[in-house]
Amino acid sequence: MTAIGIHDLELATTHHVLNLADLAESQGIDPNKYHTGLGQDQVSMPAPDEDVVTMGAAAAQKIIERHGTGGIRTLLFATETGLDQSKAAGVWVHELLDLFSYVRVAEFKQACYAGTAALQSALGIVARNPSERVLIISSDVARYELDSPGEPTQGAGAVAMLIAADPDVLTIEPVSGVYTDDVDDFWRPNDSTTAVVDGRLSVRAYLDAVTGSWDDLASRGGPGADTLARMVYHQPFTKMAVKAHAHLARHTGVDLGEGGLELGSVYNRRLGNIYTASLYASLLSLLDHDEDLTGERIGLFSYGSGLVSELFTGIVQPGYRGVDRRTRVEALIDARVPLDVASYRDLHSRELPSAVDVEMPRITKGPFRFAGIKDRARFYQRTGN
Ligand code: HMG
Repeated sequence: MTAIGIHDLELATTHHVLNLADLAESQGIDPNKYHTGLGQDQVSMPAPDEDVVTMGAAAAQKIIERHGTGGIRTLLFATETGLDQSKAAGVWVHELLDLFSYVRVAEFKQACYAGTAALQSALGIVARNPSERVLIISSDVARYELDSPGEPTQGAGAVAMLIAADPDVLTIEPVSGVYTDDVDDFWRPNDSTTAVVDGRLSVRAYLDAVTGSWDDLASRGGPGADTLARMVYHQPFTKMAVKAHAHLARHTGVDLGEGGLELGSVYNRRLGNIYTASLYASLLSLLDHDEDLTGERIGLFSYGSGLVSELFTGIVQPGYRGVDRRTRVEALIDARVPLDVASYRDLHSRELPSAVDVEMPRITKGPFRFAGIKDRARFYQRTGN
């Protein structure tokens, strides 16, 4: 059986950042609630000329620079920050990256789980024809109402992944555990730009999904818990991974140790919740910071409110480190421009009705920008950066 999995991955984020110490101070809250209680330090915030398309295209561009477009016949775009009810955001990326017309594009949605749905579909496409490669972009802007408990768990970012046979980074093992249940823990109605959430229920639902997915994995003959060298989790806030890991250890009765959670949270602490991309940002963080993972088995837990979840495993491949990836990601995260709380609130409150033509101010230093809306259609530009 051909080994298939993640051949390369790359992260992109926003122009701005909000420091949670500043948010806590403005709210009269002890900053340790955010730093220690939630395990979050910062929130990435898009400039007016950035969105899921510009972040996703920026991440994918780096992969194409390294590997070319050969074999890519599918681009799957996972997001819960849908920009249009009909058009897949990936079609704008297709244009910005100048991909061939024979590349099919579609959008996947199921809260934060959608990136994993795209990954499973990509594995199937490559299994059918191992000469094909699939580009997956998971890209999101997490927004909750101002002054709500969810506010410190906002964030924004994208992870692009190239799925291929005989991958350099991680082969995905064939057995996975799935758990789906209809739960109203978090959702975003069509007429709302912010999520509706029952925070306490969402944490309970997430933990139930961890054990439900594990039980399905175990019942299908998946690997034993004692063979998991590391675990990476979807991270709405990094402390959630700590809770989930302890819950899984209790459930399996196996001492899972620290599981690499701290190293798998370095980027997530600074990006905030990036929904569909969060699990894969955590994977990137682990791969970039752990000593030597070659040949090790990693468990991955994907959770999307509402809810669909999946626990699957992969084996780290010798070429997983990539070239200068950690330096590149750190530089990108460090380069974000801090917002004071008043400017953040102003940016957060902006409305963008599609019925009004608008040109966006030039703010982003990224390679692509959301240029505005004309005749109700969004348009994008390359910046030359
Ligand atoms: P909250 O009510 O503001 O916070 O909401 P809290 O009172 O529960 O405190 C949080 C933690 O901080 C607690 O620790 C406190 O003890 C601690 P815990 O008991 O949980 O271990 N704390 C302090 N620690 C140190 N120093 C202090 C201090 N004060 C308190 N001074 C909540 C927290 C997560 C509910 C809120 O932020 C929220 O609603 N977030 C959005 C929903 C969310 O992230 N849910 C997670 C699971 S659902 C999910 O992952 C899916 C999602 O990504 C969406 C999707 O799938 O699309 C969200």
